Amino acid sequence: MVKVGFIGAGNMALALIKAIKKANLADSIYASDVKQFRLKLVEDETGINVTPYNKVVVNESDVIFLAVKPQQIDKVLDEIRDTNKLIISIAAGITLKHLADKLKNARVVRVMPNTPCLVGEMAAGFALGPKVKDEDVKIVEELLNSAGKAFLLKESMLDAVTGLSGSGPAFIAYLIQCLIEASVEQGLSKDIATELAERTALGTAKLLIEKGLSPKELIKMVASPGGTTIAGLEVLIKSDVRNILIETVEKATKRSKELGKK
Ligand SMILES: NC(=O)c1ccc[n+]([C@@H]2O[C@H](COP(=O)([O-])OP(=O)(O)OC[C@H]3O[C@@H](n4cnc5c(N)ncnc54)[C@H](OP(=O)(O)O)[C@@H]3O)[C@@H](O)[C@H]2O)c1
Repeated sequence: MVKVGFIGAGNMALALIKAIKKANLADSIYASDVKQFRLKLVEDETGINVTPYNKVVVNESDVIFLAVKPQQIDKVLDEIRDTNKLIISIAAGITLKHLADKLKNARVVRVMPNTPCLVGEMAAGFALGPKVKDEDVKIVEELLNSAGKAFLLKESMLDAVTGLSGSGPAFIAYLIQCLIEASVEQGLSKDIATELAERTALGTAKLLIEKGLSPKELIKMVASPGGTTIAGLEVLIKSDVRNILIETVEKATKRSKELGKK
């Protein structure tokens, strides 16, 4: 087991801490933050060690998550520049080169997480800096997978991950919103329509994952000839929705590339 640290004890850190604790993966967990009330909240909710000093976290940990906002990261990197530990940054758009340039002796990992991390259902991609060892990869995978599922990829793929799973929660939420509005037009109350639509999205994803079905197989299961599903599906398939979704993910990926160059 490893000693885990968090610099920045915000929403993502709290979710990861809870997941790592639940999976019993750490010997100890330390977290620091500039906000005293965040430290109190994290301490109350998880019972981990908290400190206002980032350096204490580094000293007390083998693996340190950097969980501050991207615009706050340089200050933290300057403060911990001498570390040679395993550093996992979850800050959106902060490249491995940037991390490695600032932390010359550290083994650095860059993660693109997503918001469902907050409920233990993260879908993430991660990439490794040059100094990362094989045994580090196992640790990173274990820690990240406690909060969902993380895939080891080349860093160049993280823009596409951003376009799909990073931004995807908003795309899926928009589709759910459209389905709610559509069923309210068919007479359902907004409350009932909301819960039915949300649970349909949740259940569908769970069914695909847990039964190992492809989307095509699931569609075949529910869309019997002459039935209701096929009637609706025909409208979707004839529409431009496929191309619209291609364009949506393409735009988000492109934007991620642009932001990464800044
Ligand atoms: N939230 C998401 O869904 C999501 C998704 C993908 C990626 N991410 C990435 O995850 C990272 C964390 O996001 P979050 O939503 O958890 O942010 P957050 O809730 O704002 O947490 C960051 C915490 O770090 C504190 N902080 C700022 N400067 C610090 C310093 N020098 N030392 C120690 N702590 C410091 C912040 O305090 P102040 O508020 O006072 O600055 C805040 O309490 C971000 O880089 C973001 O890009 C988040």
